[in-house]
Amino acid sequence: MLEKIKQTAEFLRSKVSDMPRTAIILGTGLGDLVDHISDKQFIPYHEIPNFPVSTVEGHSGNLIFGTLGGKRVMAMQGRFHYYEGYDMKQVTFPVRVMQALGIDTLFVSNAAGGMNKEFRVGDVMVITDHINLFPENPLRGKNYNELGPRFPAMTEAYSKELVAIADSIADEKGLRLMHGVYVGTPGPTFETPAEYEYFRVIGGDAVGMSTVPEVIVANHGGMKVFGISVITDLGGKDITEVPTHEEVQKAAIKAQPTVVALIKEMVARS
Ligand code: HPA
Repeated sequence: MLEKIKQTAEFLRSKVSDMPRTAIILGTGLGDLVDHISDKQFIPYHEIPNFPVSTVEGHSGNLIFGTLGGKRVMAMQGRFHYYEGYDMKQVTFPVRVMQALGIDTLFVSNAAGGMNKEFRVGDVMVITDHINLFPENPLRGKNYNELGPRFPAMTEAYSKELVAIADSIADEKGLRLMHGVYVGTPGPTFETPAEYEYFRVIGGDAVGMSTVPEVIVANHGGMKVFGISVITDLGGKDITEVPTHEEVQKAAIKAQPTVVALIKEMVARS
């Protein structure tokens, strides 16, 4: 694994002259951020040695290097989900490559179902913590001390400093910004009403099928993380609406301007 990470990082270093220290994983609801990145250099995943290849049709898989909010950034357009059949090492391989390239701050976004009774569809939630319900931890197996400690703390998996910056931006711009705990599940099923209820009772505010593996590896590698969920549907025992992929996409697109404005400003200030 170390050899593969090194090889991929060397390939990218040979292509990119000014390496950023900030990376962004563009999940559902953040795709348009690409339009705000200037001096863009696209590197398709299929050209990158050792990179997993995207399985989903119509999903563009590219690494993008460019400038956002006056800062050099590296953005992942398209991520790898566990439910697609990738193993945890594949899902998190790009984060290892980021680490090898010297990335110190990671921004992630996703679409999520809301369990918190104050949430509405279209809300934007800053992730303050997570509950890992994936069947496998991405750090399972041999630990490479070069990459991080065997038993990493997850006390501040999401940087409090970055949450505070987000809060002040929301104040200035008058954005409705929720806070909450993200529950990470393998998917691909949406939850039963009883499962949404269960996730709320154990302390979750939103649930989704990504993010947690990447955030664990980023923390293991010493990065600061900021995460955002777009609440695309609501779940619980009193909620009868049926979540669909189309509805999730639609709600995420609606919230996109808020998320894009926030992330752009955060990158500039962090
Ligand atoms: N559950 C799980 N993942 C999701 C949901 C949900 O309700 N909405 C968007 N991603």
